[in-house]
Amino acid sequence: MERKEFIKKFAYAGSILLTAPVIFSACSDGDEDLVPDDPNEPGNDLTIDLSSSAYADLGTIGGSVYENDIMIFRTSESSYLALSKICTHQGCTVAYSHENGDVLCPCHASRFSTSGNVLNGPATTSLKKYNVQKDGDILTIS
Ligand code: FES
Repeated sequence: MERKEFIKKFAYAGSILLTAPVIFSACSDGDEDLVPDDPNEPGNDLTIDLSSSAYADLGTIGGSVYENDIMIFRTSESSYLALSKICTHQGCTVAYSHENGDVLCPCHASRFSTSGNVLNGPATTSLKKYNVQKDGDILTIS
């Protein structure tokens, strides 16, 4: 290898080593911003005011709404449930069916119970289930 070629390769390798940390750092910061707050973390409870028109669909048994990455649905006069809306197969948004008493993914037809358990694949992992407490018109999801 000639001296000129060696210097050229050395400069190229050096520039990669100097820029790599900046590139990886930028990627890391961006990913963190896309992750929503987890209601299971202390201080991150999700509060739903049922008197708000934004949640009018929860006024009807069988109704559902999406808030952040959570699907909240009403299964009876006094029962509300909350599951992750993100299908564990490939991330599509699931939907509650009151008529069938289940949660269906429209992408590849995975079916989940209202507890989030897999009834039919291709998904193999349950949907995350959240605790729901009702106090007057306020639902607290944690
Ligand atoms: S993304 Fe839901 S079944 Fe494939």
